[in-house]
Amino acid sequence: MTETILVTGGAGLIGSMCCEELIENGYNVVSVDNYGRGDIFGDEGNTESNVTEYLDDDRIDHHQMDIRDDDFDEIVASVDGIIHTAAQPSHPRSIEIPYEDFDINVRGTLKLLEAVRTQNPDIPLVFTSTNKVYGEMPNYFSYEKVGDRFEPVDDTLWNGFDESLRIDQNKHTPFGVSKASADLYVQEYARMYDIKAGIFRLGCVTGGAAHAVELHNWEPYFVKLALTGEELSIYGYEGYQVRDVIHAKDLANLFRRYLESPSPGQVYNVGGGRKNSISLRESFDLIEEVTGNTLEYSHAEQREADHQWWISDLSKVHRHYPDWEITHGLREIFEDITKALRKNLDEVS
Ligand SMILES: NC(=O)c1ccc[n+]([C@@H]2O[C@H](COP(=O)([O-])OP(=O)(O)OC[C@H]3O[C@@H](n4cnc5c(N)ncnc54)[C@H](O)[C@@H]3O)[C@@H](O)[C@H]2O)c1
Repeated sequence: MTETILVTGGAGLIGSMCCEELIENGYNVVSVDNYGRGDIFGDEGNTESNVTEYLDDDRIDHHQMDIRDDDFDEIVASVDGIIHTAAQPSHPRSIEIPYEDFDINVRGTLKLLEAVRTQNPDIPLVFTSTNKVYGEMPNYFSYEKVGDRFEPVDDTLWNGFDESLRIDQNKHTPFGVSKASADLYVQEYARMYDIKAGIFRLGCVTGGAAHAVELHNWEPYFVKLALTGEELSIYGYEGYQVRDVIHAKDLANLFRRYLESPSPGQVYNVGGGRKNSISLRESFDLIEEVTGNTLEYSHAEQREADHQWWISDLSKVHRHYPDWEITHGLREIFEDITKALRKNLDEVS
């Protein structure tokens, strides 16, 4: 019998790519999304249009629903696995709405875990955590400018931070705390109640399905400004800060592999790794090559608890899932984003 997987936040960037990955591999999907991203960021950020494609697809049963609704538990009870992506996803936005951030990210996740524990305890579960659970810890290391980016002074960090980095006793933003709390709850449910849950601490996830705003999804936001000619603000570090970027489709492929072969309670750092790392300054050149447009920018004050340098050490995830690999390089990622944004801008004009 065909297995059915629940994707929470199914309209979102990562959720919509998970829906696509699952149906391409023979699964049925139940998707739940309340389009709350539109409330958090305004119309520009609303992900609703991502679901138009699959409303007529028999393999996807989409519900406009909040994960905090009581009806949601009935869905949890009926499926064979879960990918939980629904969240308030922005660390700067969380500073303005700490209570809503907590309510979605912590209470929403705990409610989901309770529904799994009491009604469907044997199914695998993927939790989308974040490198923001480490708070400012990456900033406690020393970096030097090498070309247009920072690099760590300590060579042992070359391939990035692994899962042993400390998560507490530093500044996080409310988002970092709500995700760390949910991350620990998921780990606890795996250890205490034997739930087959895996925790993925993500770097920068992106792709054409993103509905970017200044406070979330920097890559498509930068491309959007390059296409429209608006000026970008760079918050701190003069653009030398480094991020590691992964296409949401590559991540969705990893999540499917986890559902098929779960490692309960394991925590993984996952992003683009060293190969898909890029500084903001380096991204300006790539965006210019891909779009043909120059990005105008000015400098602004550094954001709270913003990482100076982050690369995810992918050793553990590769050890546990040796057949998984990143298939989208940086150029392909920025090309995919540019194609999607050009289409959207054409439709609007
Ligand atoms: N995109 C990244 O770079 C990144 C990095 C680290 C972690 N993450 C994590 O991955 C997950 C998904 O991120 P994303 O980039 O796809 O975000 P997204 O905003 O594109 O998707 C989240 C979706 O969840 C929905 N949602 C929000 N609250 C909801 C609720 N209460 N009930 C039902 N649906 C709700 C939103 O409408 C949205 O469609 C989040 O948990 C986020 O913290 C993302």
